Amino acid sequence: MTHTLARRAQAISPSPTLSLDTKTKALIAQGHDVVNLTVGEPDFPTPLAASYAAIRAITEGFTRYTAPAGIVELRKAIAEKLAQENGLSYSPDEIIVSTGAKQSLYNIFMTLLDPGDEVLLPAPYWVSYPEQIRLAEGVPVVLETDEQSGFKVTPEQVLRAITPRTKAILINSPSNPTGVTYTPEEIDALAEALTSTSLYVVSDEIYEQLTYGVTHKSIATSSEELRKRTLVVNGFSKTFGMTGWRVGYVAGDRTLIQAMSSFQSHTTANPSSISQRAALGALGTFSPQTRETMRERLQFVTRALAELPGITCAQPNGAFYVFPNASSWITKTYTKMSGESIVIRDGDHLGELLLSEALISVVPGSGFGAPNNFRISYATSMPNLEKAMERLRDFAKRIAH
Ligand SMILES: Cc1ncc(COP(=O)(O)O)c(C=O)c1O
Repeated sequence: MTHTLARRAQAISPSPTLSLDTKTKALIAQGHDVVNLTVGEPDFPTPLAASYAAIRAITEGFTRYTAPAGIVELRKAIAEKLAQENGLSYSPDEIIVSTGAKQSLYNIFMTLLDPGDEVLLPAPYWVSYPEQIRLAEGVPVVLETDEQSGFKVTPEQVLRAITPRTKAILINSPSNPTGVTYTPEEIDALAEALTSTSLYVVSDEIYEQLTYGVTHKSIATSSEELRKRTLVVNGFSKTFGMTGWRVGYVAGDRTLIQAMSSFQSHTTANPSSISQRAALGALGTFSPQTRETMRERLQFVTRALAELPGITCAQPNGAFYVFPNASSWITKTYTKMSGESIVIRDGDHLGELLLSEALISVVPGSGFGAPNNFRISYATSMPNLEKAMERLRDFAKRIAH
C-alpha cells in the first residue's frame, strides 16, 4: 500500500534532541558507558509538595475534565507568581494552562499566524520553533547571531528585518541552546524598538529561574504598550524538574488567550487535572541551591572547554546549556581507535563520532540553526561532567590540528 502523507507531515522532522536522547538511551541499555549530555531536563526531582498534591488529587477523585484553560485556582496562583516574581499584572482569564510550554507555543502560532505571516526568529533557536511556525503555515525569518554578538540580536537588526508580513518576534531568554541571557538593559533596548512597531512578542521565559550573575527581565515589563502585545510563555518543566508532568502556560491579551482556549478545547482539552494540582503544589518551591549547583557545573564545563584546542564558546549565563563552536574541527582528520583516519565532514558527523568513539552524547547544532556548534546540557552530576570532559580532551588529541 502506498501512503500519501499530507504535505504538512512530509515536511516535518522529528525533534533531533528527543531522537538523539532515544539513540543514547538505547546504547546505554546495551551496556555502553555513554555520558548523556543531550537531555533538556533538570536532574533534580519533582518537589515533594507537587507529588503529594498529585496523589491527593487522585485519591480525592480529582480525575475529570477541567476547564480547557485550566483550573481557576492554578490560573490565580500563576497570576500571583507573575505579579510577585516578574512584576507583571494579569487576571486569571488572561492566562491559559496547557500540556507543556510546547503546546503553549503551538497554541500561540496556530491562533496568531495566517499563511505567509513572518515570525522573526533569532538563531541559534530551540528546534521546535521553526517547525511549529511552519506547521501553522507561518514563515520563520531567521536573524543570525554569533559568538561575537554574544548570540544576541540588536534592536537595529530586528527593525531591519521587519516587512509588511512580519507578525511577531520570538525572544527566548535565557536561551536554549546557547544559555545566553539578555541583560535588563538589552531587553529594554529591544522593547523600545519593538514599541514603535505593531509586532507581537512571543517571550519564552521557561528558563527564567536559571540565571547566573544576571537578572532575568521579562520584556513585558518594559512598556505597558508592549505588554499588551506580548505573550509570556513559561512552564513547570525546567524550574521544578517536572518535564513529565506536562504543564506550561501563556499570559497575555484576553482575546488571544480566549482564542487559544477555544483552539485547545478542540485539540487536547485541558491539561491533566492531576498535573494541574501538582503544579499548584510546586509553585513557590524553587530552591536557590539549584541555581548554585548549576552555576558550579557551568563554571567547570566552560573552564574545561576553554582548554580544548580549537574550541570557542560564548560565555553562557543561563539555562543549563553551553553551545561550543567546533568550526575548526570540521574538515580535520580524526584517527579512530581502530587506527583508521577519517575526515570530520560536518557537525552532524562530529556528533556521531563523539558518540561512537568517545561515548559522549551531545546535540549537533544543525537543528538549532548553527551547524558547526554542538549543545552540551550540564544538567547532570559533576562526576558525569568530569568524565565527559576528560573524554572530550582525549577525542581532541586524536584530531590532526
Ligand atoms: C526554550 C524552550 N521552550 C519551551 C520548551 C518546552 O517545555 P515543556 O513543553 O516541557 O514545558 C523547552 C523544552 O525543552 C525549551 O527548551
